[in-house]
Amino acid sequence: MGYSIAIDGPAGAGKSTIAKKVAEKKRFIYIDTGAMYRAMALYLLQNGIRPEEHERISAKCKEADITIKHVNGEQVVLLNGENVNALIRTEEVGNMASASSINKDVREKLVELQRRLAASTDVVMDGRDIGTCVLPQADVKIYLTADSSVRAKRRFDELTAKGEVCDLAKIEKDIVERDERDMNREISPLRQAQDAVLVDSSHMTLEEVTRTILDLCDRKR
Ligand code: DC
Repeated sequence: MGYSIAIDGPAGAGKSTIAKKVAEKKRFIYIDTGAMYRAMALYLLQNGIRPEEHERISAKCKEADITIKHVNGEQVVLLNGENVNALIRTEEVGNMASASSINKDVREKLVELQRRLAASTDVVMDGRDIGTCVLPQADVKIYLTADSSVRAKRRFDELTAKGEVCDLAKIEKDIVERDERDMNREISPLRQAQDAVLVDSSHMTLEEVTRTILDLCDRKR
């Protein structure tokens, strides 16, 4: 088992940006578990499956071969051998990922992959259940959150910068709905692990959050 840093929290809290920075500083591998749920969701959408079709999701998820590799420090997600990075960052895929991740078979399959990845190397892993379920023995656990209005505005700015036309109120509504579902599902819901440190980034800069986490790592060594 390598050294592991677990970062959990709700949608849009800045987990991936922060986790990437921390991984870079520590020279650890960054693993974005949300991207795996997104790749699975993409596969289900491509097969015309709707979020409420639980049995079809259980059957179909077995056919999806999801793996990751790292190219120049970037995580590349492969779905049945194809790089799907460019296809998984839409709101549609994100919402389907949240809906289909309540499925036990989907979770078992992806959690197994995540544990295998962390077994062989030092990682910063982000998601919803890393500190509580995937890596309960993680060396450092962070629960990163921010007000939903702040998270919505950040996502809005991100999408606008990419040239997408979007509606701030709709984004906040989606974020609140996604939190609801991720926090209230039956299997490994999003919650702060008992031994996780709460970091509220509502009024913090990227640098401040990164520094806070690196300091925690230094203290834990
Ligand atoms: O972090 P993200 O927005 O890319 O994640 C998309 C969805 O995937 C999220 O709403 C819930 C699900 N997810 C999960 O259930 N467990 C994880 N460890 C990561 C993501």
